[in-house]
Amino acid sequence: MKYYVKSTALLDIKSNIIIGLYENGEFSSSAKKIDEISQGYLTNLIQSGEITGKIGEVLVLRHLPNYSAERVFVVGVGKKGEINEKQFKQIIQDTIKVVKSTKAQEVISYLSDIEIKNRDLYWNIRFSVETIETSFYQFEQFKSKKKEQDVALTQFVFSTQGEVAQQAIEHASAVALGVKFAKDVANCPPNICNPMYLAEQAKALATRSDLIKTTVLGEKELAELKMNAYLAVSQGSVNEAQLSLIEYRNHPNPNAKPIVLVGKGLTFDAGGISLKPAEAMDEMKYDMGGAASVYGVMNAIAELKLPLNVIGVLAGCENLPDGNAYRPGDILTTMKGLTVEVLNTDAEGRLVLCDTLTYVERFDPELVIDVATLTGACVVALGAHNSGLISTDDELAKALEQAAAETTDKAWRLPLSEEYQEQLKSNFADLANIGGRWGGAITAGAFLSNFTDKYRWAHLDIAGTAWLQGANKGATGRPVPLLVQFLINQAKNA
Ligand code: BES
Ligand code: MN
Ligand code: ZN
Repeated sequence: MKYYVKSTALLDIKSNIIIGLYENGEFSSSAKKIDEISQGYLTNLIQSGEITGKIGEVLVLRHLPNYSAERVFVVGVGKKGEINEKQFKQIIQDTIKVVKSTKAQEVISYLSDIEIKNRDLYWNIRFSVETIETSFYQFEQFKSKKKEQDVALTQFVFSTQGEVAQQAIEHASAVALGVKFAKDVANCPPNICNPMYLAEQAKALATRSDLIKTTVLGEKELAELKMNAYLAVSQGSVNEAQLSLIEYRNHPNPNAKPIVLVGKGLTFDAGGISLKPAEAMDEMKYDMGGAASVYGVMNAIAELKLPLNVIGVLAGCENLPDGNAYRPGDILTTMKGLTVEVLNTDAEGRLVLCDTLTYVERFDPELVIDVATLTGACVVALGAHNSGLISTDDELAKALEQAAAETTDKAWRLPLSEEYQEQLKSNFADLANIGGRWGGAITAGAFLSNFTDKYRWAHLDIAGTAWLQGANKGATGRPVPLLVQFLINQAKNA
């Protein structure tokens, strides 16, 4: 789909127009003009009760008296001044569905005039483009019969003007691209999307952008680096662990410290010897959702050419039971030197991440954010709506909360204080890899914090937000919008 910003005179439109209609008969300025031209056509429809302006209502009108446009899409937009972000996205979703069902090739939308509560034109257009792009997403690589997407629409014009609108389209398109890339790898089945596959995607990214260089470390290199916790998790799998380093350098000062994003990349997590129950185990193919989102973000910033240095790290491996698998009771010596007693092999994400968080010290990071489908406890605490945020740095946490609120890719901060560390005590090693029944999302974050003293750090637990269950099962691409926005803001403030 191509998006344009063009201030268009309503009377000149020959193709198709989208206008908003408020509830309780109030006209948007474009609806008012069309009503006048057509001698009260809309007024009549309202009086006969055929349109009400309620959200969810989309009418296609053709051959309006005295009006040249081929089709007029009249969209209910609810109560003026009361439309929130969620409702606005719903309006766009409903509209685009009806537009797609017609033969319209080009539409000129006046919905950019619709005011979203506490939001400006920029966000109106960002939400519009992101919602439309999402409506086109399908994952059908493995279906022998593809669903027909017989859509005529190719051009979407926002009838407005200005630099801000243009920038909103660019930002939204990049976010949507990142979300799509993240979804594609995350939805991919674990027999195809294994650690090697993840690494290949990381390498392919470097061939698409001159600003990116990718390096991949295999188990031999990880062993030389003494990343024993990471390797222990991978031990039960015939698929070799792969740590991908995607280095994006475009800061005006080439020596500027990089922002490092670390993604948990368990391409499958069976739990290991502490085997998971069979029910819904297939969903553990999404246990690389953190790596998928980091990969998506790197695609998006390369598209935007943000003036930053960013290193995306995909910590790929697989957690399986096997004769050679690591066991409960094993004591591992991490790269940092801290020893960890394994009390549950299903708490593997923190083991992979702790060594990766030590590894990235060598980049002398400005800050580090890890992204992980880390705990079921986070889903219990926050459900599927908010990612869990944990940080040792209030300013960084605030910046992430702000980006989350701006994009509506929500996150909620959880506390992190020394009491939680006490739950991680082991009789035999420096740390245990689980912290007991209570506060599981926090003790997982507390575990990681032992490996992050060298830099500003935040952790996003996306176990509840990275994919949807049920009929619409599939990857969501979260938290790509949040992270890309965070980086856009960082570039602005630099
Ligand atoms: N990948 C899981 C976390 C997870 C669970 C993500 C459900 C999404 C949905 C993680 O590796 C795990 O198994 N965590 C355990 C930790 C426990 C053993 C302390 C969990 O949450 O049960
Ligand atoms: Mn696990
Ligand atoms: Zn896991």
